[in-house]
Amino acid sequence: MKIFAMILMSVTAVMAQAETCELTINSNDQMQFDQQEMTIDSSCTEVKLTLNHTGKLAKNVMGHNWVLTQTADFQAVAQAGMTAGLDNNHVPVGDDRVLAHTEVIGGGESTSITFSTSELSADGDYTFFCSFPGHWAIMKGSFKIS
Ligand code: CU
Repeated sequence: MKIFAMILMSVTAVMAQAETCELTINSNDQMQFDQQEMTIDSSCTEVKLTLNHTGKLAKNVMGHNWVLTQTADFQAVAQAGMTAGLDNNHVPVGDDRVLAHTEVIGGGESTSITFSTSELSADGDYTFFCSFPGHWAIMKGSFKIS
């Protein structure tokens, strides 16, 4: 019982420290995100991001995902994503430059991810984008920590 109480106390302590911030972004059949800038507060320890695809086109035609990298890495990762293929969600496998990513979804679908902010810093320069081939030039924005 003593051990159980100790575990319960430590779980409670971890929960008290976690601050999960929720973000939602929409995408459509016109190859657009509905936001060019997303901001989280510096108190967020985790981000729960939901991507909605409000269009009708299938994911192999107009698929979208949400990928986060440092701005300096964004174009190289986007280009690597083109050859990674849909089976890998157009994200290069095992690539440390990818800070977070969702799966690729098609029209009418939604997906969510939760990621830690421990690798992000308030003075960092981050870009989110869709890595579906040909989309990143338009479907991109800045991700900020305030
Ligand atoms: Cu896209």
